[in-house]
Amino acid sequence: MGKAMRHRSNVVWMGMFAALVVLSVVNAVFLSSCSSGEQQEESRTEQTQGAEAQEVATQDAGEAAEDAIEPVGDVEDGSESDDYLFLVNRAEEHAIPDGWLDSIELVEVQNRLGETFTVERKTAEAYQDAQDELEGEGIYSCLNSAYRSRETQESIYEEQAASFGEQYAAEHVAPGGHSEHETGLAIDVILIVDGEELRSIEQMEAHPEELAELDRVMAKHGFILRYLEGKEDITGYDPELWHFRYLDDAQVAEDIMGRGITLEEYLGVV
Ligand code: DAL
Ligand code: ZN
Repeated sequence: MGKAMRHRSNVVWMGMFAALVVLSVVNAVFLSSCSSGEQQEESRTEQTQGAEAQEVATQDAGEAAEDAIEPVGDVEDGSESDDYLFLVNRAEEHAIPDGWLDSIELVEVQNRLGETFTVERKTAEAYQDAQDELEGEGIYSCLNSAYRSRETQESIYEEQAASFGEQYAAEHVAPGGHSEHETGLAIDVILIVDGEELRSIEQMEAHPEELAELDRVMAKHGFILRYLEGKEDITGYDPELWHFRYLDDAQVAEDIMGRGITLEEYLGVV
C-alpha cells in the first residue's frame, strides 16, 4: 500500500471512529432523555391519577352527602347554639329550652332502608361519621327515629297508652314538650348483624361485641346512651340501648359513657 493510500485509509478509519463516538453520545443522550421522560410521564400519570382519584372521591363524598343530608325548611344561615349540653327530661324545669328549635338547623337524612328522617345538622353529620367508622369494621347500624314535633310526640304517647296502658306509656315515652327527640339531637338506631335487624334489648344484648363497639364509636363521635339499665329512677324511663343523644363534645360523651353515668348525674341534677 502506497503512502497516499495509507493516509486515506487512516482518514476513513478516523472518520468512522468519530462518527461512532458522535452516534453513541447522541444515543446516550436520547436514551437518557427517553427514560427520564418515561419516569416523568409515570410520575405525572400517578399524580394525575391521584388528583383524579381525589376529585372522584370528593365528588362521591359530595354526592353521598347531598344524597344523605338535605336542609329542611328555610333556615337562612345555619346558625346554631354553641351549647348542646343541656338537660331534657320529664321534670317540669327540663322541658325543651325556649327558642332551641329556632337556633338550630334541621336536615333530612335517608337511612339505609330508604326511609327519611329529620335530624339536627351536626347530629346527622356525627352519626354519618360514626356509621362510616362502624361499617369499616363490618358493623351496620340504621336510623330508626330522630326529630319529632311536639304533636308527633304527643300522639306516640297516646297510642302507647291506648295500646299498653298509661303506666307502660309513662315508662317508655316522654310527654310532649319533654322528649329529647323534639330537640333534633336524639336518634334511635337499629343494629344490623348478619342481615338481622336488632331492635329489642334482648336482640341487641345477644350481640355484646357489636353492641359495645356501637357504644364506643358513638361516644367517640359525641353521642351518649341516655336510658341506662339500673338508672331508671334517675332518667325516669326503662332502659333503651338504641336511644343516643348528641352532645357535640366527644370528650364529655366518652367520659359519661366510660363512667356509665346519666346526663343528670354528669350535670349534677339528680
Ligand atoms: N323514649 C324516649 C323516652 C322518648 O320518648 O323521648
Ligand atoms: Zn329515642
